[in-house]
Amino acid sequence: MSIFPPEQRIWWKEPVERAEVLWVSIAFIWCLIMFLMMPYWHMTGNQNLANTAFRITPERYAAKAEEMVAKYKVREEGTNAVPVVHPPPGSDVYLIGRLWEWWPILELEKGKEYKLHLSSMDWLHGFSLQPTNINIQVHPGYDMAIRITPTTSGEHAIVCNEFCGIGHHAMLGKIYVK
Ligand code: CUA
Repeated sequence: MSIFPPEQRIWWKEPVERAEVLWVSIAFIWCLIMFLMMPYWHMTGNQNLANTAFRITPERYAAKAEEMVAKYKVREEGTNAVPVVHPPPGSDVYLIGRLWEWWPILELEKGKEYKLHLSSMDWLHGFSLQPTNINIQVHPGYDMAIRITPTTSGEHAIVCNEFCGIGHHAMLGKIYVK
């Protein structure tokens, strides 16, 4: 009972129980294994994406995205007339996350590499590509860039996987791969 002091008043000088040493050692070794698995998965499993992040203001990021849309827009879609953009392979592609949409719709070519940039205009959002299961946090004030090469053609959905308010469940986007 904690309201009474331990019988052995100098309890911290007693040797550690062998079972405890054993379990702490096992847990520590497992931590090391998991730690080493992270670079291992990155090298061999195509997991743990290599990304770079730069500070940027939402205004500057939006200007870059709008410039790309103005240059490479091919059509509009839906009742909100969301632009569909077909940027040239190898180029920088900008995707905006904001309350509550992914903007614009991207149309990419299969087997070509792009540098995909992600940033938020307001709160924290989560870029979750379906059904490939790529997940990246999208922060305001940071330009998160990753090199991507689409390998499956078709229509891919982007859902938001960080709760961002009343419209979170409706925050859907699209990437076409041709
Ligand atoms: Cu954006 Cu949830």
